[in-house]
Amino acid sequence: MSEKRVTFASKIGVVAAAAGSAVGLGNIWRFPSQAADGGGAIFILVYIGCILFFGIPLMVSEFMVGRASRSNTAGAYHKLAPGTQWKWVGRLGVLTGFVIMGFYMVVCGWTLIYIFQSISGHLAGVTDFSSNFIDLQTNPAKQIVWMTIFTLLTAFFILSGVKKGIEQSAKILMPLLFLLLIVLAIRSITLDGAAEGIRFLFKPDMSHVKPTLFLDAMGQAFFSLSLGMGCMITYGSYFNKRTPLVKTAIQVSMLDTLVAVLSGVVIFPAAFALTANPGTIVGELVAGGPGLLFITLPELFNQMPGSMIWSTLFFCLLALAALTSTISLMEVVTLYIHEEYRVSRKNSTLIVTAGVIILGIFASFSASFFNLLDVASAKFMLPIGGFFISLFVGWHLDRKLVYAQLTNERTLKFGIGFLRVYIFLLRYVVPTAVLAIFIYGLRA
Ligand code: PHE
Repeated sequence: MSEKRVTFASKIGVVAAAAGSAVGLGNIWRFPSQAADGGGAIFILVYIGCILFFGIPLMVSEFMVGRASRSNTAGAYHKLAPGTQWKWVGRLGVLTGFVIMGFYMVVCGWTLIYIFQSISGHLAGVTDFSSNFIDLQTNPAKQIVWMTIFTLLTAFFILSGVKKGIEQSAKILMPLLFLLLIVLAIRSITLDGAAEGIRFLFKPDMSHVKPTLFLDAMGQAFFSLSLGMGCMITYGSYFNKRTPLVKTAIQVSMLDTLVAVLSGVVIFPAAFALTANPGTIVGELVAGGPGLLFITLPELFNQMPGSMIWSTLFFCLLALAALTSTISLMEVVTLYIHEEYRVSRKNSTLIVTAGVIILGIFASFSASFFNLLDVASAKFMLPIGGFFISLFVGWHLDRKLVYAQLTNERTLKFGIGFLRVYIFLLRYVVPTAVLAIFIYGLRA
């Protein structure tokens, strides 16, 4: 506990690290399949609403709790609310991080397999990309090997305490990923028949509205912004006195949303243009579910000259985007065990790694267990965590502290009116909306 806290070196480093956690498989793999399931444009509108109403205020709150306590997720509540039951919110967050890693690492393993298949030229020769993906999904041994490799890779970074390395590499890799997505988006929207996909993505069609739409979009927003479990609390604990919390939260959320929408612009026009049977495309998209990215994209690459280079580059960047997210996930759990149980950082990493691999083995064997972990974390655990974090900052934290954090000890110009609106959102709007969506979604 007495460990000296380092802070991120630069403003860009802060945004890169937080965006590194936020931007990951959630944006590029999970978002398109959720959007397909939720009727494209309708889902995206609700999703953006969630980012604005819950996402940004909650991210500011997590940063605040982290910076005010300079502690791990559970420790933060000990420090800011000693002797209370709030610590359970922190513990729930740690458990959530663990559950997310259980299935996330499996998908990370898929990205490694696709890198391998790209380099070896295998992908360039595939004609049926669905069965190529199904072959992989029905091969637990292969998934386990690559999931384990990815978990060990994450552990390696956690062990070597690479904050600097990650900060630096995120600064270079994130823009590169962005650039590549733009190039792919251009290729995708210039395919014959792409217009249908664009329409699906940007033109709301009420016939696709599902009762669980709001819950799905809210879960996706929490997942994608890494909110509701204390990831941003942990990163906030590394911010310095001058880091502007509100501005940083807005920048990170905008970047994250941009990457998600861009991946939609890559996937949907391609999916519509390349499908054999346009009549059933929406059904196919939904059925494609979690595989969408791994089926549509390689097919798109094969339509481009130098397909091998494109797919190698893309899956490498995807793996790296995922890595900056798995590092943030593992850091939450590792730091908790390390600080709260006084286990050395090394042993703590080993315990977490072993636990994640065991969970990942189950998720590799059983698609329904995989889905259970996915759904339980995104639709239940993260929103519940977010609900309580909102109550914690809105009701429990001293207003003076909140104001000092928002304004960096009054060096930033936020009027008292801003504080009032912010507190009002956290006290009433966010918890009520989260609860309402939650109950409505469960009954549906
Ligand atoms: N936000 C990450 C993504 O979009 C996943 C994540 C969730 C990371 C929660 C940390 C905490 O891929």
